Amino acid sequence: MVVIRRLSGLLILCKKIICKHDDQHHISIEGKNYAWCKGIKSFSMENKMDIELVEASKEYEKQAMAYRQEFINYAEKEINGSSGFLEYDNYDEWLEKVISQKKNESSLTSTPATTYFTIRKRDNKIIGSIQLRHHLTEELIKDGGNVGYGICPSERGKGYGAKQLSLILTKAKELNLSKIMISCNKDNRASVGVIIHNGGVLAGEGFDEDEGKVTEIFWIDIM
Ligand SMILES: CC(C)(COP(=O)(O)OP(=O)(O)OC[C@H]1O[C@@H](n2cnc3c(N)ncnc32)[C@H](O)[C@@H]1OP(=O)(O)O)[C@@H](O)C(=O)NCCC(=O)NCCS
Repeated sequence: MVVIRRLSGLLILCKKIICKHDDQHHISIEGKNYAWCKGIKSFSMENKMDIELVEASKEYEKQAMAYRQEFINYAEKEINGSSGFLEYDNYDEWLEKVISQKKNESSLTSTPATTYFTIRKRDNKIIGSIQLRHHLTEELIKDGGNVGYGICPSERGKGYGAKQLSLILTKAKELNLSKIMISCNKDNRASVGVIIHNGGVLAGEGFDEDEGKVTEIFWIDIM
């Protein structure tokens, strides 16, 4: 017992020392993020996947506008998974649309859809957006599927996209969906990576009329 207590005391001390150092470098091994601190020649695992999905609401206006601004700064043409947020200078107008989409009636041509922001808890930054369409319409089954998503340009390639999609699977389960469809342009290898990371199975190809591109259609079973 004494040895265990001493060891855990030592671990807490180490953690404190690591946190005091500013000269941290970050590496990612198999999706886990580590901080390398030169000062004490040691590794500590960071909980960089500290993200959660929150439904778009007035509360997140400030972070949401900063998120939107980043896409403008990077000259991006679209914010995927945001229900056209880039086209709205006025947050309230966009929010009104998003709230009404959630109340849509289910029919062959219409589905309720919930739009989430993905927030990184440690700094409260919105790093992504993702929309879950509650069922597939005639149109969505051809192109679009149940989910649309994006990560802001400065946070891509860090594993957030894969984690974000895994979080939406939990929301899909809450809606009693047994599987979801995702379509993405065949040349979007980052998006394909995100889907495959989450167990996506390629079911065929489609066509994105707007972009004039061949798409790949995946299904993910909800466990
Ligand atoms: C697609 C997108 C959401 C991916 O998010 P991300 O955070 O960059 O992706 P991740 O870091 O989680 O990577 C997930 C997987 O894809 C792979 N990947 C990431 N970027 C890649 C790239 N440019 N080329 C090939 N593979 C890539 C990763 O290695 C990882 O694979 P692994 O699970 O085997 O390690 C992000 O690039 C984005 O927002 N793009 C613009 C919007 C968009 O295309 N949305 C999807 C429309 S269908």
